[in-house]
Amino acid sequence: MASLTIRKLDDAVKTYLRLRSAKNHRSVEEEVRVILRELIEGREEPLTPFAVPYAAPTPQRTGALPEASVTLIIGGGIAAYKSLDLIRRLKERRIEVRCVLTKAAQQFVTPLAASALSHERVYTDLFDPQSEFDAGHIRLARDCDLIVVAPATADLMAKMANGHADDLASAILLATNRKVLLAPAMNPLMWSNAATRRNVAQLQRDGVVLIGPNAGEMAEAGEAGTGRMSEAIEIANAAERLLRPPTPKPLAGKRVLITAGPTHEAIDPVRYIANRSSGKQGFAIAAAAQAAGAEVTLVSGPVDLDDPPGVTVKHVESARQMLEQVEAALPADVAIFAAAVADWRVANEGEQKLKKTAAGMPPLQLVENPDILATISKLTDKRPRLVIGFAAETEHLIDNAKAKFARKGCDWIVANDVSPATGVMGGDRNTVHLLSRKTGAQDGEIAVDSWPAMTKEQVAIELVAQIAKSVTGKSLESAS
Ligand code: C5P
Repeated sequence: MASLTIRKLDDAVKTYLRLRSAKNHRSVEEEVRVILRELIEGREEPLTPFAVPYAAPTPQRTGALPEASVTLIIGGGIAAYKSLDLIRRLKERRIEVRCVLTKAAQQFVTPLAASALSHERVYTDLFDPQSEFDAGHIRLARDCDLIVVAPATADLMAKMANGHADDLASAILLATNRKVLLAPAMNPLMWSNAATRRNVAQLQRDGVVLIGPNAGEMAEAGEAGTGRMSEAIEIANAAERLLRPPTPKPLAGKRVLITAGPTHEAIDPVRYIANRSSGKQGFAIAAAAQAAGAEVTLVSGPVDLDDPPGVTVKHVESARQMLEQVEAALPADVAIFAAAVADWRVANEGEQKLKKTAAGMPPLQLVENPDILATISKLTDKRPRLVIGFAAETEHLIDNAKAKFARKGCDWIVANDVSPATGVMGGDRNTVHLLSRKTGAQDGEIAVDSWPAMTKEQVAIELVAQIAKSVTGKSLESAS
């Protein structure tokens, strides 16, 4: 039977489901089930109780955090009040939170408060018929990326260490196959007690991660020692590190130069010659190289894209301006020329707007633009160690791409078919072939590595991985 992950749905659908489930006091999953049941039973009731305008899904912005979700188990201790702040801190980090409150936790915080902060239904009962008719505790245990227990009381940790499952929290902890982060909180004597020491050691052997407890004053008057729950920010940061481990930086200390987008070649002050390049592929490469730790300069023609965070972007119009900025950005370890540079510019550019005259069309004299890729490939002093060109072709892709090696003098060529039927120009996907000179080949033999169709972001990540391997010998997986 297929399963559906709510957080992978479009934003507009998720917003609709959240509003509707909140109104009906149901969890989002229950609401989905009700909607499906209504549909199947052919009910007339409209499915739009709120006017939620449909918004086309916004593409994930380069550099945006990936979504993640946490099941937060709140145990019964005075530190439970800090867990309300923890919900907020997790949500600030774009982490969805579903709360489970133990019976004891409800003596300190209310399900209503947790629900208001998490914007989700709160779970309290293992034998709740509404959520358990399809084993809700199993979904809470597995339909998330991480389980956080805060506060993790001595009792909850003892149950966990011994595999008990007699309430919702312990049943989830026993049924999960996700990572578990515990934020212990208890009296210092309970923390140092031999039984707790044994349980903590057992949990650590089981792969559970602990944050804290910190040392300091206790809620009990006059008591101090180790047992205070970590602050909400510390727990949220620890959760984020587990959910989004820092990416390897194999290109740290390397300078990478990238060109992207079209160039605009002026005919007169209001008209220009251009092409259909969107710049998406070059921008994605810049973002991927930056994420791999490189110091990136992106020289971009006119595009409708946000500058990738952490990248130095030089905006230019024409091919000559692009060459100027590329030369100014040298030296670099790697240069990637993804721009669709106009081959020609107008020699007799009009100082004023050209007018229609009885004599007919004014003749446009075209002259060739500088070939930026060839110019940089042929440098002797400041030539980057790895120079990569692109070959966007509409026919004879591999043959045309191979012919470019001799003309341009670069090391690799990324070839892609841009004929209109492929939708590559301006689209989000690309099918590329990476051409490189075979190692040790004397006769200029060229290796062709054909990649499957991927998003432009995936192409960028794969290309950066190959670059890292080539210039540093480090792979994205092994580097740190
Ligand atoms: O010659 P062609 O335009 O097919 O070559 C494509 C490759 O050369 C791309 O990498 C492109 O960025 C680069 N190029 C350049 N300057 C030009 C023309 C192309 O850098 N004037």
